[in-house]
Amino acid sequence: MKDVARVAGVSLGTVSNVLNQPDLVSPATRRRVVDAIAQLGFVRNESARQLRAGRSRTIGLVVLDVSNPFFTDVARGAETAAAENGSIIMLCNSGQKVEREARYLDLLEEQRVQGVLITPVGSDNARLDLLVARGTPVVLVDRGTEHPNWCSVAVDDVLGGLAAVSHLIERGHRRIAFVGGPMGLRQVSDRHVGAVKAMTDGGRDPGELMLFETTWLTLSSGRQAGERIVGLSEAERPTGVFCANDLLALGVLQALAGHGLRVPHDVAIVGYDDIDYAAAAAVPLSSVRQPRELIGRTATELLLDEMREGSSHQHRRVTFKPELAIRASSDMRRRRSSSARTARAARPAV
Ligand code: RIB
Repeated sequence: MKDVARVAGVSLGTVSNVLNQPDLVSPATRRRVVDAIAQLGFVRNESARQLRAGRSRTIGLVVLDVSNPFFTDVARGAETAAAENGSIIMLCNSGQKVEREARYLDLLEEQRVQGVLITPVGSDNARLDLLVARGTPVVLVDRGTEHPNWCSVAVDDVLGGLAAVSHLIERGHRRIAFVGGPMGLRQVSDRHVGAVKAMTDGGRDPGELMLFETTWLTLSSGRQAGERIVGLSEAERPTGVFCANDLLALGVLQALAGHGLRVPHDVAIVGYDDIDYAAAAAVPLSSVRQPRELIGRTATELLLDEMREGSSHQHRRVTFKPELAIRASSDMRRRRSSSARTARAARPAV
């Protein structure tokens, strides 16, 4: 930096301002410093800067499954918001594993990241509380919370599950299934709560909601659940299936199609997240839309607000309303079964 200052004919402080707060420097002076940096091939030493500043310019984002487009869309929103504020996102994949999540939180704290955005695997807040207590702010992503130590950004997943199953009931489905898990993930259990509420609101026995619980929220788990559905007799098989996310739904779709079952004619399917592959599926998938990039952007902005506001920051709970996108995979009225039609026809007119 001293060589740059000498070549540009400015003070060391001016060079630092050009690098860290360029708006404080006049365009002409900024140009001289930038030209000197280029001429000398200067590259700042981030580690040295971090040692002086005590904090990196990195924000950690810990997601459940980096192969799920839901999270890469969330990461894109976070990255854009971070870049607008001179920060970068470090994406970490917990793989829905508590130990791996804990390891990443240790690493991020050691790196002195500006803060951590996280979709937690479990519901134990202890490690995150410790992070906050030692000066690293946290924002929960895609998870509602009543916890006092951080902000959160999520969609109302109960409302999302309610919308999905109410739609299947409205389309005339009698045998409806929920595919998803693990129920220890709050977003999954909330979607299931909404599905059960839809059964009750629709005058159905909630105990009739069939449950195909999965360990993971992946295509493969969806295929496995689809194979279980195919293995049922026609009389037992659900005619309407609500899946806890789109990857599960696409897996179910794949399994049904592989056995010649038609969607939605034999089985209607509704997913959750509305990732780009939902609308692009061979049978366009109905799905409960989450504003994925907005979730990422909002979480990052809440974190940056907390960094700026310090102890005066008021934690916020941002909850978006889900929207159901109805497409071919469920957009068909279920005709009552022939036996039900026959029984109705046999009844004397009143
Ligand atoms: O990966 C788990 C699921 O939880 C995602 O598909 C998304 O729906 C999140 O809420």
